[in-house]
Amino acid sequence: MRKRFTLLLILLLGFGSVRADEGMWLPNLIGKLKIKDMQAQGFQLTAKDLYDVNEGSLKDAIVRFSSGCTGELVSADGLLLTNHHCGYGQIQAYSSVENDYLTHGFWAMSREQELPNPGLKVSFLVRMDDVTKQVLRGVRPSMTEQQRSDKIAENSLAIEEKAAANTHYRASVEPFYYGNQYFLFVYEDFEDVRLVGAPPSSIGKFGGDTDNWMWPRHTGDFSIFRVYAGPDNKPAPYSPENVPYQPKRFLTVSTQGAAEGDFTFVYGFPGRTYEYITSEAVRYMVEKGNPHKINLRTIRLNIMSEEQEKSVQTRIQYAFKHARVANSWKKWQGEMKGLIRRNVIREKEEAELDFMAWAQNKKEYAHVLPELNALYRELEPYAFARDYVNETYGAIELVGLATTLITPDMTELDERQWNNLHNYVADFFKNYSPVIDRRTAIRMLQEYDRNVPEMFQPAILADYKNQYGSIEAAVDDLFDRTMFVSQDQIEELLKLDPEAINVAVKADPVAQLYQDFNRLYRSGILPEYNRINREITPLYRVYMKGMMEREKSRIFYPDANSTLRIAYGKVNGYAPMDAVYYEPYTSIEGIMEKDDPHVYDYDIPQSLRDLYAAKDYGRWKVNGSVPVCFIATNHTTGGNSGSPILNAKGELLGLNFDRTWESTMSDVRYDPEICRNISVDIRYVLFVIDKIGGAGYLLNEMRFAE
Ligand code: ARG
Ligand code: ASP
Repeated sequence: MRKRFTLLLILLLGFGSVRADEGMWLPNLIGKLKIKDMQAQGFQLTAKDLYDVNEGSLKDAIVRFSSGCTGELVSADGLLLTNHHCGYGQIQAYSSVENDYLTHGFWAMSREQELPNPGLKVSFLVRMDDVTKQVLRGVRPSMTEQQRSDKIAENSLAIEEKAAANTHYRASVEPFYYGNQYFLFVYEDFEDVRLVGAPPSSIGKFGGDTDNWMWPRHTGDFSIFRVYAGPDNKPAPYSPENVPYQPKRFLTVSTQGAAEGDFTFVYGFPGRTYEYITSEAVRYMVEKGNPHKINLRTIRLNIMSEEQEKSVQTRIQYAFKHARVANSWKKWQGEMKGLIRRNVIREKEEAELDFMAWAQNKKEYAHVLPELNALYRELEPYAFARDYVNETYGAIELVGLATTLITPDMTELDERQWNNLHNYVADFFKNYSPVIDRRTAIRMLQEYDRNVPEMFQPAILADYKNQYGSIEAAVDDLFDRTMFVSQDQIEELLKLDPEAINVAVKADPVAQLYQDFNRLYRSGILPEYNRINREITPLYRVYMKGMMEREKSRIFYPDANSTLRIAYGKVNGYAPMDAVYYEPYTSIEGIMEKDDPHVYDYDIPQSLRDLYAAKDYGRWKVNGSVPVCFIATNHTTGGNSGSPILNAKGELLGLNFDRTWESTMSDVRYDPEICRNISVDIRYVLFVIDKIGGAGYLLNEMRFAE
């Protein structure tokens, strides 16, 4: 009796169930799994409004933007919003010292002025289907893992081919729950996507790396593009004849904002999460992987910053690189703090003990966790060495260029490959500082030498020390002698006949560094690393299945894998530490508090100061101010940048662009108390377009909720 009662209590308290607001749900399953809960929390639409293959639904307004972001359509003429940091590469590509769009912003004042971006692609999801049965057809329990995965690959390919046959669509089959389920995704890709507008970086990147991952935040992190199609409204390569794409659906904009407690949801393409990994995996991350990677990146970032301070040209050249290196560097720090603070390793250990008690007499599951733990211990030295190679050797830019020139046999390149090579070289030198690279190479190789165990040391580091007395002297000499730091020399080289190029690149002093590290990586690290992971992966499939069997009433959400998802929650402040409470909204007042002409990250455009002084906010004035950013409890991750954040009626409230520092742990463990996503309020976006950009005409094509 007592036992029953406890059980009931546990069920009522929702033990083991998904914590409020946690999860990234597949749009075609939301009707079955979550729509009731969404509606109970305030959602006013139906599952069909979110996802419908026959009628236009909200999903038709969402795109995967390039490979790592999300965007949404906001007009019948293909106008698209995403983050400034998502369009950063494109804005930078059009920027030069004379024409610095990064600094001053860019606004196309007519369609003719919109700028094409070769290589940029956006993808719409046409439909998705559960294809688990078809994928697993012919898979038998007696098969080896290799036979199993060959069969799955074969079946998946057939499904993809059939789904895309006689269409211009692209199909892909993706595993979920570590291969316990499979879904087919059919996409329509557009490749003529033009830049329409971007605010100055002092707005779009306001707060820079100082405020990145932090709250309170005041970043106008948006940029504007337009999707173009052929005259038949189908995808077409760039052509001046192309016309603005007419989407099946575009979003309505709400200028009402949301109050604390209001329902919101984020619709986008989250990249990767690891919610079900074991305590051992988290332990490596928190105690070893992250601390070392953070340290290495601190060194690199200091070198970049010092050189960027010295020259405007270097500052522009390394703006994107610096931001990219700093982003994960800071994320890992927040993630570590959060995981430690929340005691996630212990929490997972305890859950694992419970699982093992349950699995004790079950043949299928009893062995899983002990085996996983043993494999993780075996993996650790290889994971560590691999992290070091990537973060040190992999940080030397010269090596990247050398790899591109040493790897291919030049006698075998066709014309297209030659063109690619020439373009690569031109791009490389457009943003290259030999000074930064030399200093980085010295420090990274020193750290490798100091921290990586003997068995993973490449011969060349010992040679350097023997021949030159120090790594520093050796790398200095290497940079003095190599031809790879000189664009002129490389271009001269590429004029030689292919045979001679092959010989010359292999004689360069960089070649030995390249060969030694590669040999080590490919024979001493990667094979073991991959072998162990090949054993880990199928165990997770079994572990996941066991967890689902054990907690039948719990609805498990699949880890993010760059497929379209819905996360829902509410606008909500939080308490990051004792005695501190963070309000959910920031305003233009906060921008002025931070404004400082002497600090690069906080130096706003004069035009914004003037508008503030005159309180000239036009129709964007709310209570005498302008709202800027807000936080909510939606479960998001990298890839969700640029995603629309929508209200209960599916109207656009803003653009998701970040999480708070304490939240970055949500890739491993979502903590409802502190995990918050950060969005820029659409009213601030519109204010900037209108009042700073003077591009208010763009608003005429948008549709506003009344
Ligand atoms: N932290 C955000 C994300 O992971 C934004 C990064 C861009 N902003 C920056 N200051 N680096 O992508
Ligand atoms: N800033 C991230 C992105 O670029 C979003 C996040 O990690 O919260 O996707």
